[in-house]
Amino acid sequence: MLAGVLALGVLVSNPVFPMPSEMQFLGGSVTIPESARVVIQGVKEPAPLRWLLTSFLPLKGGKSRIEVRFTIDPSVPGGDEAYRLRIDDRGIFASAPSARGLLWSLQTLRQLAGASPHEPFEKRGSRTFPKLIIEDAPKSAWRGVLVDEGRHFMGEATIKRFIDTMALYKYNVLHWHLTEDQGWRVEIKKHPKLTQVGAWRKEPNGTRYGGFYTQAQIKRIVKYAKERGVTIVPEIEMPGHCSSALASYPELGCRRAKLEVPTNWGVFTDVYCAGRESTFEFLEDVLDEVIPLFESPYFHIGGDEVPKTNWKACADCQRRMKAEGLADEHELQSWFIRRIQAYLAKNNRTLIGWDEILEGGLAKGAVVQVWQDIERAIPAVKAGSPVILSPQSHLYLNRPAESNSMRRVYEHTLLPEGVTAKDVLGHEVTLWSEHITPDNLFARFLPRGIAAAEMFWSDPPRDWPSFSKRMDQHLAWMDAQGIPYGPADAAISTVRLESLTRERMGRLHVETGLKDIDVRYTLNGWMPTRTSPVIEGSIEFPIGKTLTIRPFRDGKPFDWPKVFRSIAHLAYGRRVELNQPPASRYARAGEVGLTDGFIGSDDFDDGVWLGWQGTDVVMTVNLGRIQPIREVTLNCFHQMRSWIYLPKRVRFEVSTDGESWELLGEASHSIGERDDRTLIHPFTVTKSTQARYVRATATSFGKLPDWHLGAGGETWIFADEFTVR
Ligand code: ACM
Ligand code: ZN
Repeated sequence: MLAGVLALGVLVSNPVFPMPSEMQFLGGSVTIPESARVVIQGVKEPAPLRWLLTSFLPLKGGKSRIEVRFTIDPSVPGGDEAYRLRIDDRGIFASAPSARGLLWSLQTLRQLAGASPHEPFEKRGSRTFPKLIIEDAPKSAWRGVLVDEGRHFMGEATIKRFIDTMALYKYNVLHWHLTEDQGWRVEIKKHPKLTQVGAWRKEPNGTRYGGFYTQAQIKRIVKYAKERGVTIVPEIEMPGHCSSALASYPELGCRRAKLEVPTNWGVFTDVYCAGRESTFEFLEDVLDEVIPLFESPYFHIGGDEVPKTNWKACADCQRRMKAEGLADEHELQSWFIRRIQAYLAKNNRTLIGWDEILEGGLAKGAVVQVWQDIERAIPAVKAGSPVILSPQSHLYLNRPAESNSMRRVYEHTLLPEGVTAKDVLGHEVTLWSEHITPDNLFARFLPRGIAAAEMFWSDPPRDWPSFSKRMDQHLAWMDAQGIPYGPADAAISTVRLESLTRERMGRLHVETGLKDIDVRYTLNGWMPTRTSPVIEGSIEFPIGKTLTIRPFRDGKPFDWPKVFRSIAHLAYGRRVELNQPPASRYARAGEVGLTDGFIGSDDFDDGVWLGWQGTDVVMTVNLGRIQPIREVTLNCFHQMRSWIYLPKRVRFEVSTDGESWELLGEASHSIGERDDRTLIHPFTVTKSTQARYVRATATSFGKLPDWHLGAGGETWIFADEFTVR
């Protein structure tokens, strides 16, 4: 066992993440000149090693007696990815049983280069390294990151940069989620509508959003990743999460319904028909084209979140169940997966599925990726299946850092009780992209992904204070290299709205999760750019204006824009009496929330909307004195998948004394209960009268209907703003 002198508390080098298994500092440093001799021995394809090396060591090659030597050496212990590194007065000597091990030694060198973490690489003609010996090997064979291309498309330049960053922390699997309800991202030549139709969606604001990778691009990206030690495992999602395919080819779904590529998130009841042979012919065509693009022996087919609603009602699916002797729709799903598994096996690919593939009978030999609850690994391990652990509770990095902080990620126990490291293939973090775009992809991944990488690779004793200290030094190094990262335990920006009703102004308070984030704004409805003014702490704006804010870092957009619309009206700033307080989670707008002039956005959780579950809502506003009015409006929110339904109707009444009430009118709507768009509906009555009090009664939709995934559950009413003109 080697001992580290870091224990003496002397900072002798940049910290290395993930921490190497064994690292011994020899004392002092060595400078590698541009003229150092580079020798690569025993490697079949040395070019990628050389590129990577020269990306951070400006080696021109020469006759210096100092060497940088990479050698294949089968005697280095620790498996295929292990490496040994010695840096001394003679130079740098790396050895490994495989090229992959040598690539990892390079990533370690990349982090060690430079005397100070603040030194950008480009500025120097030589590099100083600490003299040391490292023996390193991963604990876990599968160290993955899922990137969801379906919800938001990353594109070739971003995904390549992402692969570079994964490799820096010795992640070795990119789990590439290429198809989703909201977008099909891989060219399939035999079924061109998948990308002509399925790769594009019409956003609520009318813009067209989308994109896809051609097969040529995919081959390029796979090669690029391989040269950096990263294997790409594709995911083609089935039998659910396939709206984009059904929008392209409606005959693939049980109902053969004409669908649009959806623009909202959730679980959709339209899935591939498991009854008709034509579905499998299509899927086999897709697999035939996708399999040869990738080299991994594994192939992910999703299998998660498959509503059985349509299968129950489909004659073809029911016929299939009878013919195959399947007791229920769970067994039909299991039969579906086994059939695809057999097809993959013929093509030398092992199937991976999300842990739902445990339901209705686990396909023998399939790899189970556990996400719902880490305990789900236990039955899979008992059945002899390899497992990949991605518990949403800790390893879903798409969950914001304010709720899933770096410390929470770092202190995660990794394995459920009774399961040992030997039982699992590995671990994976996810970046589902409902709220991730190329702008904030890196901010969500880093630095939390570094904490996960360390647990996956070396899993040292978890000592948060020392980890945290090393991380601070590393963040400075990342700053110097221009590697973008987000806050470790806070949102990129946190905002709070304040209504200054006397001044008829709004005030927005902004806090940023990192010091060097600038939140820029406009007041004219346009998207803020890198030259828009910056909010210093807070900003005041006249009610009636639209405030748009967007975080920037290093002159680049760093997160989503947020839009705050406001309106002045007669009830503005007036207190509203309620029959029921809103649920505490949706009461952040406070007592004047319904009349604060701010209009709820298309995100019901924006802090502006008020929400009530399972009740009618009566709201009474006092205008202060009797005055002429001509129009009253209550805006309500609709998002079927989130259980938020428009009230059936809103009745408006007026009074001059608060005792005797007169009906002003009733407003209803024609939005269907199955409508799965996100909508804001103004319930309005126009009639001229005199009033001091206005009362709105919103009648709840009631319980969720039978066909809904949450059938029988209590629906929500979301309201904002209550306006009187
Ligand atoms: C998943 O998050 N639905 C695998
Ligand atoms: Zn069917």
